[in-house]
Parts: sequence; C-alpha cells; structure tokens
Amino acid sequence: MTLNRRQFAAAAIAPLFVPSRAKGANDRLAYGLIGSGNRGGGLNRSFQKIGAQCAALCDVYKPYLEKAKSQSPAGVKTYTDYQELLAQPGLDFIVIATPDHQHAPMLYKALAAKKDVYLEKPLSLSPAQSLEMVDAVRKTKQIVQIGMQRRSMSFIRDARKLIADGAIGKISLVKAAWNWHFNMPLSAAPLEGELDWQRFLGNAPQRPLDPVRFRWWRGFWDYSGGNMTDQGTHLMDVVQWMTNSGAPISATCQGRIVNAPGVEVPNVFDAAFEYPDLLATWTLNYRTTSDFDWSIRFFGEDVMLQLDRHGLRMYRDPGGVDAPWTQKVTADLIRESQEQDKPEAHQQNMLDCVRSRQEPNCPIEVAAQAVLGPHMANIAYRESRKVRRDASGAIS
Ligand SMILES: NC(=O)c1ccc[n+]([C@@H]2O[C@H](COP(=O)([O-])OP(=O)(O)OC[C@H]3O[C@@H](n4cnc5c(N)ncnc54)[C@H](O)[C@@H]3O)[C@@H](O)[C@H]2O)c1
Repeated sequence: MTLNRRQFAAAAIAPLFVPSRAKGANDRLAYGLIGSGNRGGGLNRSFQKIGAQCAALCDVYKPYLEKAKSQSPAGVKTYTDYQELLAQPGLDFIVIATPDHQHAPMLYKALAAKKDVYLEKPLSLSPAQSLEMVDAVRKTKQIVQIGMQRRSMSFIRDARKLIADGAIGKISLVKAAWNWHFNMPLSAAPLEGELDWQRFLGNAPQRPLDPVRFRWWRGFWDYSGGNMTDQGTHLMDVVQWMTNSGAPISATCQGRIVNAPGVEVPNVFDAAFEYPDLLATWTLNYRTTSDFDWSIRFFGEDVMLQLDRHGLRMYRDPGGVDAPWTQKVTADLIRESQEQDKPEAHQQNMLDCVRSRQEPNCPIEVAAQAVLGPHMANIAYRESRKVRRDASGAIS
C-alpha cells in the first residue's frame, strides 16, 4: 500500500485505534501493577499522584506486595500469579516492572488479554527477542509505552531541537557515562519474607533459591543484560535520538568486575560504538570515587552540549590555535537550562495515550533500537571481539 503526502500526514496524526471503552479526559483510568519492587513501587505512587487508580497488584515477594498494598487504595486486589491479575475485569492498562527476563512473556500475555501496557526498560534480553516483541505489539492495536522517561523530559527535547537547528554544528563524537558507587558484595542472608522462587525464575534456567540472585538479579545474565543494557538503554537512546543515527554499525567493549565477588556482569566498562557519521563511547563505573551522576556530552564542531541530571549546558569552543597547550582551560558557557520536569511526565503521557489512542513518546521500536547497541556491546564483551551490524540488520 502506498500513501500520498496528504494521506501520510493524516495517518501520522490519526489515533491508532479507538476502542468502544475509550475514556474521556475526566474518567479515572484503572491499572494493575506487576512487580512492586523498587521501580514498581515508585510507578505505583506516580500513577496515583497523577490521578490513575491502582486496582490490582502482583508480586512474588510478599514484603514488596504488602508495602505496595499499603500505598494503594483500600480494596486493591493482590496476586502472586500475574495471569490472574490480567484476568481481573476493569483494568485499563497494565504496568510491568519486573526483572528483564520477565518483560517479553508478560508483555505477550498482557497483549493477549487486550491490555494497554506500560513496560519497563530495557526492552529485551537479546536483539532477536526485541524483534519478536515489536512484532507482537504491532499485531495488536494496544498502546505500549516503554519506561524510558528521558523521552518525555522537556530539557532533552529542547536539546534535540537545538541540535537539529544546527546550534552545535556537526557532531563527530558523543560520550555517555554513568558513575555510581555500589557496595558489594551483596547480602546472602535469608530473605525476610515469603518468595515464590519458581515464579521469579519464570522461563530462566532452574536453580535453587538464591537470595543474592533475587536481591541483585541485574548481576546475572539469566535475568538481564547487566548494567550495560540497564543504564545503556537510557543513554544510548538519547545519543541516537539527538543525532538521528539509528543503531550502531559496530561495537567493542572492555569490562571488569571490580570488588563484586559472585556477580557475573561487569560493573566497570567502556564500550565504543561506530555509527555511519559519528563515534560514541559508553562508560559505566559503579566503583567511582567522584561524579555520582549520568552525563552525555555531544561534541559538535563549534559547541559541546552536555546533558545530565542538572539539565542542559552548552560550551563554545574558543577555536583552534597553533599551540593548543596555551589555550584557555575552560570553554565559554553559552547556554544553561536547569529546568526539570515533573518526574511523572512519562507516566502522564501514558495516561494521555490510553485515552487518545495516539502513539506514546516511547514506542516499542524506539526501545528496540535503544537496546540494540548495548546488546551488541555485551556480545563483544562476552566473546572478546568486535561485533558488526550490516545494512540488512544482521549481527555478526
Ligand atoms: N525507568 C527507570 O528509570 C527504571 C529504574 C529502575 C528500574 N527500572 C526497571 O524496572 C524493572 C524492575 O527493576 P527494580 O529495580 O524495581 O527491581 P526489583 O527487584 O526491586 O523489583 C522487581 C520486582 O519484580 C518482582 N517479580 C519478579 N518476578 C515476578 C513475577 N513472575 N511476577 C510478579 N512479580 C515478580 C520481584 O519480586 C520484585 O518485587 C527492571 O526492568 C528495571 O530495569 C527502570
């Protein structure tokens, strides 16, 4: 099917699908939350703060379920089997905030139950799984928003406009970094409450209950892509969004496990990505001694633009000289914006889209593209080689 320009423009702004149950702006949307741990607990509070109603909660760990229940309206129903939650009538959308290995199976079941879904990042465990998930969503008319909240932050949207308008010139290099300090090793003490370990494992390989794996599933390949996809999906998405670069054409990665016995994934690493027109590095240090923050620095011809949790700053390059070592140490700060959004902006966008049936700010294709580079870098790290992606999308 081909569309002429006017049809194309009309299609681009038309709602995806208007169901008979479409709600008006004043109706309260009801949701069910699967996974009420750290992020799920926060999302539960955020969605309620912006007027949605928590009607169902599911978790396999009782203490987290009880805590979320105490932060939800009286009468909220609780489950340990998420398929029972999906069968509860009256839920307008489902929030999924479980470990990464549960994202695909839970998304498929939620779509089969005809639910809209707010699904946490990173999207998938592998490039192939990303493609299957995109296909599954596009076979339905459901709204699916992925929890990459930078897509709804106005200072990041401002940066995109500045870059598109040529404010920093052609970008040749981008440096993304995340520096935190985690205390390791993790506690192997028995869990404080009841856990349904079999449901936690889901499709992951069988093994006896391990409190460390439950507490820090991000440290193990069975349940996640480690710190690489966990934070990399956020930052590499911004890199690719700002530069319109698509996913990388190659990736390399060096990593170390520093003072974190028993954990499988690197907590200090440096990945390098090649794009057709630029290079990007992605460095994570969870043993840092300073800079406890994330940052992305876009090096244009004329100006460097930096994004971090303080907002946006732009520094003008003073210009080349014959003797660079005589140059001023700092470039001139020419623009600064410390404006911060309400943290609920991305969840508000979900509510708006459930009502309007428009595409949300972070559709599934964006999330698949964002996590592709980090998946390639994980393969590069685990197989000690450079990983390439050809024009057909094949990875070798
Ligand atoms: N967008 C963000 O900024 C952000 C921040 C933190 C975490 N996250 C994402 O949120 C997800 C959860 O991370 P977290 O830090 O909250 O981890 P967590 O371990 O604190 O919470 C995960 C919860 O899922 C529950 N769970 C596991 N298997 C389940 C099952 N089969 N059924 C029901 N519940 C199950 C666990 O018991 C736990 O309560 C991850 O995908 C993570 O990447 C996103």
